[in-house]
This record gives sequence, C-alpha cells and structure tokens, in this order.
Amino acid sequence: MNAAVENPYWMPFTANRDFNKKPRVISGASGHWYTAQDGTKLYDTFSGLWTTGLGHCHPKIVEAVQKQVATLDYCITFQVTNDKALALAERVTGMAPDGISHCFFTNSGSESVDTALKIALGYHRARGEGNRTRLIGREKGYHGVNFGGMSVGGMVPNRKVFSAALLPGVDHLRHTLDIERNAFSRGLPEHGAELAEDLERLCLLHDGSNIAAVIVEPVVGSAGVVPPPVGYLERLREICDAHGILLIFDEVIAAFGRLGEPFGATRFGVTPDIITTAKGLTNGVIPMGAVLVKDEIYDAFMNGPAHMIELFHGYTYSGHPVAAAAGLATMDVYEEEGTFEQARGLEQHFEDLLHSFTDHDHVIDVRNFGLMGSIEMASRPGAPGQRGMEVHKRCFWDEHMVVRNGMDILQFSPFLNSDPDEMEQSFVKLRRVLDAVE
Ligand SMILES: Cc1ncc(COP(=O)(O)O)c(C=O)c1O
Repeated sequence: MNAAVENPYWMPFTANRDFNKKPRVISGASGHWYTAQDGTKLYDTFSGLWTTGLGHCHPKIVEAVQKQVATLDYCITFQVTNDKALALAERVTGMAPDGISHCFFTNSGSESVDTALKIALGYHRARGEGNRTRLIGREKGYHGVNFGGMSVGGMVPNRKVFSAALLPGVDHLRHTLDIERNAFSRGLPEHGAELAEDLERLCLLHDGSNIAAVIVEPVVGSAGVVPPPVGYLERLREICDAHGILLIFDEVIAAFGRLGEPFGATRFGVTPDIITTAKGLTNGVIPMGAVLVKDEIYDAFMNGPAHMIELFHGYTYSGHPVAAAAGLATMDVYEEEGTFEQARGLEQHFEDLLHSFTDHDHVIDVRNFGLMGSIEMASRPGAPGQRGMEVHKRCFWDEHMVVRNGMDILQFSPFLNSDPDEMEQSFVKLRRVLDAVE
C-alpha cells in the first residue's frame, strides 16, 4: 500500500494528514537501529517508545517468544493460569522493594494505571473506609489514555475534548517544572520541594480522610522529562502517611532500568504503596503491564468466602503466556548482562551530551535524570510545536535518526546498553539539525 495515497490506519498521537504526505514507515530493526521500508538504517534515540532498553530483536527474547508461541499460545486467564505468568510474577515482585510481593498483570501502561486506581478504591472500601474516593494527580502528569488515567493526568490536550466525561472527585497538585529557577539543572533540580505541600493544601480542602490515593510519575516523562525537585518525593510520602493516603508511583517509563535501578522507587529510596509498570517489562516486544502492590493492600482484599472472587477486575490477556515468556527472558537478560549497572554507567556521558546544547540559540532548558533526558526549545511565535516537528522530520529524512518530540521539547530515552560513541554521534547529527532549522 502506498500510505501517501490513502492510509486507512488512523495513527495514534500522530498528525495524520501531515504524516500521509510523506509517511515514515519502519519495516525492520536490529539492536540500536531501525530499517525503513526503503532499506535506510535509522538510529533509534528513543528505545522504541521508552520501551526497548535492550535494543531491538534481542536474540534471547526472540527465542523465548518463538518457543512459547509454539508451546502455549494462549491460556484462559480467569480461575486458571499459566506457568509463565506465575514465574514472571515471582520474578518481578522479587525485584521490588520489601513489602511488595504481589502483582496484577495488564496489557499496557494505561491499563496498569486504571487497575491501580481501582485497587486503591477497593482497598479503602475493604477496610471500611469507603468514603476515601478522591484521587489526586498532578498537572503535566501522563497516566495513559483510559478514563481513569486521563482524569488524574494533567496534560491538557489529552483531557480537553473529554472534559465532561472525566472522573468526578479528582484534583491535581501543581507541576514542578520551574524553568525560571531550575533551568539547565543537571539531575534533580534544587528548587521546588515545597510544591509537595500542595498535598497538605488539598487535604485541608477535601479533608485528607476522603482521599484514596495520589498518583505521580517519579520522573515526569511524556510532558518533557521533569525530574522531581530534591526532597519532593520524600515529602509526598510523609504527607500520604500522615493522612492514610496511598501513594502510587506510575513507573511505566521508570521501571526496569531507565533510572539505573529496577524501579524509580529503589533509585529514590521512596517506597510507594502501588507501582504501575509496562514498557520495559517485556522490552516492548509483547504488550504487557504489571501493577505491584504492598502486602497490606493485597491482604485487605483477601476476606469474605474463599470461593468468591476478591477483585472483580481483569483482562482476557492478563498474564498472557507469550507476553510473560517475553517478560521472563527480558528479566534474564537484565540480570545476565548487568543492564541496570550498564545504564547507570552511561548516565554521565548522556548528561554531558545533552547539556552541550545549553548554549544553542533555540534551547531554553535541558533536563535529565537516569537515562531520561529532554532539550526544550523555544516555540516559534504563534506556532507552538512547529519547530519540534521540523526537527523530528529532518532527523528522520536528513540524518536517519528517530527523535521524539513532544511539541517543542525533544525527548531522549537512550538504550540501556547504548554504545557511547553511537550515542555521541546521534547528538552530533542533532546539532546539525538544530543549526539548520529556523
Ligand atoms: C507514565 C506513563 N503512564 C502510562 C502510560 C500509558 O502507557 P500505554 O501507552 O502503554 O497505555 C505511559 C506511556 O507512555 C506513561 O509514560
């Protein structure tokens, strides 16, 4: 099919009409490189979509998937399960902070978030605190596109059209992006821990006893990589404890090595009550997510007659055997190849490369933590997002790289096992593009 002529595929989060004028189509990948339909090799600066930290088509994961699909392709997931799902649950909870020893499988980050919110509400109700129904998110938060995640999320374009259908009883903390005070911070910004006090303010407004949960990304991803101010997450934890509110870390991006540790929680030394994951769980090879919960939460549901279902929630594909096999192989590779240490070892180089753009005329901020980074460009007057889109397209066509832009913010998610020289080359190419665009 010539997608430029008529493209029946309505693409997600895509400017479809613009795309269709000159489609960017990938048909293969290996390691750190994509292959476009015309055979051109393109360097992937985004590890898929924050997903594929080990590189594309890792032979061990490919082999595990091939084997599993020929052994047990699918298995009913309600009242019966499969060996791979059991093994993966054990493996993933084994990496989690102490006291988190159960996980619920989903198929995506959005499903993980909505599952986590439902678990939070169910937990309070099971303990006789059914009045705790309010959910608190944060401006600039991205928690996927389902109704729960969209409601607690704080990215305006994702909410605008659906505003009448958002969940009631949701409130938001202010975001922590403060370019005026924190521009060009390396790692965690110094200013802004006091913004955690917004939660105290909301507890005064709604009464803390009515709030079920607070959900935040430990490092904001999709809104343009915003690391938390020093001390911010610790303070959120304290306030949640003081009011009996569950703290949910949405680690769909952060979990499994992106921050050089199994979880953002372990990197920051702040343990939430629930952790949502997806992406790196299977290296992006098969869609899958997992929601990890503290033991008290799981235990609270385990009451009533033992033959009755405790949580009326689940997906046809929860714990899908092929996805779980991909997950197990992914965990094996992380361990065998020392991926998280490797990622940690790349952080300084990545930070230096990003911050080498500090002096560029278009650039108004550079932010990074772990292997998450962004370069924020000034928007063209009256045309927000246009410069970012042009950079994305020029990178693709002129420099043969896939670079992700969210409006005028360029986002980077290098492979956890990146070759430092390849990474450096990608930033040399990026500079050529930034120099060339107006
Ligand atoms: C923090 C966070 N939560 C949830 C999601 C939604 O995940 P999915 O696109 O798999 O539904 C994303 C996706 O990028 C994310 O970054």
